[in-house]
Amino acid sequence: MKVLVIGSGGREHALAWKLSQSPKLTEVITAPGNPGTALVGKNVDISVGDLKGLAEFAEKEGVALTVVGPEAPLVDGIVDLFHKRSLPIFGPVQAAAQLEGSKDFAKEFMREFGIPTAKYRTLDNHHDAIAYVEKEGVPIVIKADGLAAGKGVTVAHDVETALHALAECFETKVFGEAGARVVIEECMVGEEASVLAICDGETFVSLPSSQDHKPAYDNDQGPNTGGMGAYSPAPVMTPDIARCVDEEILAPAIRGMKERGTPYVGVLYAGLMITSEGPRVVEFNCRMGDPETQAVLPVLESDLFELLTLATEGKLREHPGLVVSSRPGVCVVLASGGYPGPYNKGEVISGLEKFAADSDLMAFHAGTQFNDRSETVTAGGRVLGITGRGSNIEEAINKAYQGVSKLSFTGAHFRKDIGKKALERPN
Ligand code: AMP
Ligand code: GLY
Repeated sequence: MKVLVIGSGGREHALAWKLSQSPKLTEVITAPGNPGTALVGKNVDISVGDLKGLAEFAEKEGVALTVVGPEAPLVDGIVDLFHKRSLPIFGPVQAAAQLEGSKDFAKEFMREFGIPTAKYRTLDNHHDAIAYVEKEGVPIVIKADGLAAGKGVTVAHDVETALHALAECFETKVFGEAGARVVIEECMVGEEASVLAICDGETFVSLPSSQDHKPAYDNDQGPNTGGMGAYSPAPVMTPDIARCVDEEILAPAIRGMKERGTPYVGVLYAGLMITSEGPRVVEFNCRMGDPETQAVLPVLESDLFELLTLATEGKLREHPGLVVSSRPGVCVVLASGGYPGPYNKGEVISGLEKFAADSDLMAFHAGTQFNDRSETVTAGGRVLGITGRGSNIEEAINKAYQGVSKLSFTGAHFRKDIGKKALERPN
């Protein structure tokens, strides 16, 4: 059987790598993929936005399951299109992907089904938004309603910053239509963690928890990025908190989507703030996290193809139960010089050949490509995710940084403190 993975980042390399371990699969194809996905299967040059082209390819090749990496094709309705053509695909339909596609939709949904999250107000004009910020005071969080490639959120600690964020949405319109409405939220305090739940419309299975590192520099300094590293599991998710997330957040979300007539099939990513009053939802995403996936999947021992197939067929109850490794995973992202601002592309990456022999060390490709001399070069902001496994988090951190030290390219930068919060927690 063949599986098709859609996307070209580190998350998709981790997905293709993990799927390729399934004895049920003969081929893992990634569209469009990257030099990393080419190592675990084959790439096909169809872009993520070419929904019809992807469906035609899946049909022609007799693909047993298509797995969608990024949110954009889901929000654009790729699952609905595949369903119309009776092609098996793992992901939410367009109406269900609104949980990520519109922050207002997600907040209103959480309010209806009693899912704990920050207090909020949605506003569609500048004047009312200013008045609301002035009434509520700071700290306060301003979010563009629609998809803004992870850049639409401002956590404002002073009024000036809050007003600047509102002006960006309503006056300079830096997020275009996505910023025509804003969600203004209470600022929650606590440690963040993520849970990826595999859902079949009726029920769900939670993968091991994880924690992302969004700011660019050590000690959470500097501008926000797509994520500079992750570890799994996250010790902040104690068994009690994990149970609470399952019962008070994921279960009502799955029940709510079913009640609304749009059963949720796919990955439901719950971005959480673990507050002193318990876990609260920061955001829902309709796909796996990146780089979280690069730390989570190496910790999962179960066959991912079997799990995703059962979810797609609405048969998760038949799953025998997840097998999770006791060895944690830590992923350190190597980014291009300047990221998340402007950066060079085409820098030659050296040292990748040193990764072959070690089963506890993985180099997931994110922003890489081959140049015309067949060298692997940088092609994006986040270039590689280096994941180490170990018998405890400290060993996994050391392993990941040993991997990082084997690699180099001009301008490379990475955080030196990935996993530090897990180490500092009393056990
Ligand atoms: P998002 O794009 O929704 O994940 O938000 C980006 C980051 O902003 C999150 O990872 C949090 O660190 C922060 N954030 C978002 N909403 C809130 C909130 N209501 N309270 C505190 N921090 C928040
Ligand atoms: N790493 C954050 C995300 O994937 O949304």
